[in-house]
Amino acid sequence: MANASGFFTPSVPRLRSKIQPSIGVSRSGFCFSGGISRRVVCSSAIEGAEKHVSPSESRMPKLVRKGCKLVGCGSAVPSLSVSNDDLSKIVDTSDEWISVRTGIRNRRVMSGKESLKKLAVEAAQKALEMADFDPNDLDLILMCTSTPEDIFGSAPQIQRELGCRNSPLAYDITAACSGFVLGLISAASHIRGGGFRNVLVIGADGLSRFVDWTDRGTCILFGDAAGAVLVQACDAEEDGLLSFDLHSDGEGGRHLGAPINDNETDELLGSNGSALDFPPKKSSYSCIQMNGKEVFRFAVRCVPQSIESALEKAGLVSGNVDWLLLHQANQRIIDAVATRLDFPQEKVISNLANYGNTSAASIPLALDEAVRSGKVKPGHTIAAAGFGAGLTWGSAIIRWG
Ligand code: ACO
Repeated sequence: MANASGFFTPSVPRLRSKIQPSIGVSRSGFCFSGGISRRVVCSSAIEGAEKHVSPSESRMPKLVRKGCKLVGCGSAVPSLSVSNDDLSKIVDTSDEWISVRTGIRNRRVMSGKESLKKLAVEAAQKALEMADFDPNDLDLILMCTSTPEDIFGSAPQIQRELGCRNSPLAYDITAACSGFVLGLISAASHIRGGGFRNVLVIGADGLSRFVDWTDRGTCILFGDAAGAVLVQACDAEEDGLLSFDLHSDGEGGRHLGAPINDNETDELLGSNGSALDFPPKKSSYSCIQMNGKEVFRFAVRCVPQSIESALEKAGLVSGNVDWLLLHQANQRIIDAVATRLDFPQEKVISNLANYGNTSAASIPLALDEAVRSGKVKPGHTIAAAGFGAGLTWGSAIIRWG
């Protein structure tokens, strides 16, 4: 089991003052090793890949700002809505069973020409619009997803679709339902330690593509969506990420996964080392396999501990926090965590009934709805926590706006 936890004052400013001079940031990235900075230069033989990159344009080290704040959010969901009654026509279930056991009533499922990339771009554009921000000024795009439409990741394609002329660095983060919280902390780390100023964090997943629609134990839970947040460098007094707490446990990973199907690699090799059956068969992933009870137990045990730890590092108690915003997996998990942490029902954000579990999208989707409806106002503090496959889990105490 591994964990990482942090809050950025007062320890990080000391660290930052040590590393700041040795960080070199170029168009293609930054590299820091043993106090010696090395410029990472992008060279490519692919036509067009170099068109935005010229040495004079290279991103130079910038003043490292001590804070980062969330200044815009957006979300997008597919148009097809699938109700519990719809599901009861394809598996042996009922609206009553699903809503009582999970709190879910509807979920959105990608269909026709919809794609995860399009949803992610739409959510990103809305977040940029809210912040009145030009995509050309982005430094970094983090696409948090476990279901990219290209095995090598989607972030650079989203960069292209957003029309960012300055080619910000863009890469994917795979951490299932904890992906968005991980993305947020990564954005903050890039801003505080790497000289990046404007980071777009997208959480998007299309788990409907990896669900066994004949398995009533899992197909009732998941939906597709995308959400995005723009994170910006700011002065320490305005800091919007007050603390965080992150964990992973590969041992518990057996309870939830969608592993690659066995491609019979053992049979490829003969006893004398020669190839028996070459080339290997094309790989594919299995559908989501989950031990629901174990995942439930893990969530109600580990999530409150993580939030308590993050609150303590921020010097807060739940009474000081305006909102509890958990990964939207099961209303019973949300209620159990809220009760354990003494959050009254009216301080709990939940839109699970309408969308089901949208994995990395669930937190930014719920945040976006809460901000746009006027529930979450500038200056409000939010205890956010993600948890899921890996196992991974973590929390962040954030201030909106
Ligand atoms: N409709 C009707 N009956 C059902 C259904 C269904 N959809 N699903 C299961 N049942 C039946 C079972 O067969 C079982 O019947 P039995 O008693 O005759 O054997 C009975 O209901 C109870 O089944 P359980 O699995 O024990 O039900 P449980 O109360 O645990 O609820 C659930 C299942 C909803 C999946 C719950 O365990 C849960 O939400 N777990 C957490 C899931 C979660 O949070 N996942 C996060 C994933 S995040 C990520 O990283 C992708």
